[in-house]
Amino acid sequence: MSPRYAVFGQPIAHSLSPRIHALFGTQLGIAIDYRAIEAGRGEFADRVEAFAHDSGRGANVTLPLKEDALALCADLSERARRAGSVNTLIRDGERWCGDSTDGIGLLRDLRERRACDPHDLRVLLLGAGGAARAAAFALADAGVRELVIANRTLKRAEALATAIGDAAHVGVRAWSTLASARPFDLIVNATAAGHANAALDVPRTLLDEQTLCYDLSYGKAACAFLDGARKSEATRLSDGLGMLVEQAAESFFLWHGVRPDTAAVYAELRDSPTAPAAS
Ligand code: ATR
Repeated sequence: MSPRYAVFGQPIAHSLSPRIHALFGTQLGIAIDYRAIEAGRGEFADRVEAFAHDSGRGANVTLPLKEDALALCADLSERARRAGSVNTLIRDGERWCGDSTDGIGLLRDLRERRACDPHDLRVLLLGAGGAARAAAFALADAGVRELVIANRTLKRAEALATAIGDAAHVGVRAWSTLASARPFDLIVNATAAGHANAALDVPRTLLDEQTLCYDLSYGKAACAFLDGARKSEATRLSDGLGMLVEQAAESFFLWHGVRPDTAAVYAELRDSPTAPAAS
């Protein structure tokens, strides 16, 4: 049986990953069997085990399973260990190895598609949950001048800053005092506000005409933050569709050893972002 690949998550029906990997495969002449598999937290380990027995050789993992994926790996990359989450599983003999391609996906999208190298920038990160964690380590590694983490629950922001451990460049700010901060070069939204259909205020004081407002999500989930930024007259805005394509390309490289051209795939998704139904 030919090797199989999949994305696990819940909900998963609207995932763009099967389409992205199919486009990469077509581009590189590699036949790809990649499907979406619905799995909640309680059933994830069993589903992955069954998948491995059914020629599963690699998988992406999305919400709410990234921490569970970490727990079932026999081996972890350094970036997965630091991020505390796994979005890519790689089968090695009888065991799973875990990697996290979210951080590198974010940096590639910022640098190559948004002309924004975080090196030496002042960056505000909104949120301190799982999604924020991968972004925070990547941004700190990129050599930001200052990374300020703001979260509704300040303790979680403090825990993340402590985990990064670069006090000279990484600090926290209470959510309630955001409006009195000065403008940032880059604001990254990693909160789940958009997923919960909650509004997100982006105080005008945080912005100048150069500030790039970037949401890690795409589609409807990115609207809360991007609408909030627009209301405060932000002019440089981006959702996370490019990051999604870049993290997928890095997973593809880990499985197949070749790097797809992401520009063509990104352009196609941007033009027609509809996801196929899950199988
Ligand atoms: P994920 O894996 O998507 O990051 P998570 O770990 O549950 O999910 O984290 C969700 C993040 O979004 C947290 O930073 C959360 O803030 P709290 O730690 O204070 O709960 C943040 N969040 C969720 N809803 C929010 C809202 N309406 N406004 C601001 N932040 C919100």
